[in-house]
Amino acid sequence: MDHQQKTHYDLFSQVFHWVTAILVFAAFVLGPEHLGRLIKQGVDPATRIDIVWHETLGVSVLVLTVLRLIWVALRSGPPEHLMSPWMHITGKLVHAALWVLLLALPLTAFLALGSEGIPLTLLGGLRIEQIPLVKSSGISALTDWGDLHQLLGDTIVWLAGLHAGAAIYHHVVLKDGVLKAMLPR
Ligand code: HEM
Ligand code: HEM
Repeated sequence: MDHQQKTHYDLFSQVFHWVTAILVFAAFVLGPEHLGRLIKQGVDPATRIDIVWHETLGVSVLVLTVLRLIWVALRSGPPEHLMSPWMHITGKLVHAALWVLLLALPLTAFLALGSEGIPLTLLGGLRIEQIPLVKSSGISALTDWGDLHQLLGDTIVWLAGLHAGAAIYHHVVLKDGVLKAMLPR
């Protein structure tokens, strides 16, 4: 171990970051369109491979995000780069928004499934018929959770695109180490 200024994220943080990014984009591409309508027509979600994959990828993102937050609390802190205060703060805000979205996406999905009484159907035949507590608690009446989930799904992809654009700008224009910090040495 050297005691110089840290230039890179540790390997765990890097693996968590890139695996999560890939899973989020894959889940987005498979975003099950008009699921509510299909269900009303009597379609069992377990028979739709796009829905099963979407939910499995999404639940994997949730599990990874929880493990990753534990790791963030344990690790010695991210590398810091010299930059103007506004850029530093904007970066922190975008990261915070991405963390919130990573948790809000599965949460709104569970609320949508629970409100509509739609089973959660995962790969391997895993199936939860009714998400507990949602329907009886009045949460389901607060909003259309499916619409909100879709809006947040679109938002995370736009924000991640902006975030990726910023990383590339750092690399190509500012020529600092921000992008390299998230890449293997
Ligand atoms: C990684 C995070 C996720 C992203 C980016 C994402 C994105 C999306 C998007 C964009 C849609 C709308 C698709 C369309 O109408 O074209 C959607 C719908 C849906 N997603 Fe997700 N999702 C994620 C996680 C999850 C999880 C964890 C679950 C289930 C546990 C889930 C279940 C659903 C369901 C049931 C719908 C249909 C909602 C409705 O129309 O009422 N999603 N998702
Ligand atoms: C859905 C996709 C993505 C999500 C949810 C996401 C989320 C995040 C989060 C939460 C962090 C902070 C990580 C930590 O503290 O361990 C981060 C850092 C970073 N991400 Fe992403 N990211 C995504 C895609 C991308 C892409 C496509 C790129 C590059 C082309 C990228 C480049 C970076 C870089 C360079 C950092 C380090 C920035 C810094 O230290 O200020 N990310 N990302």
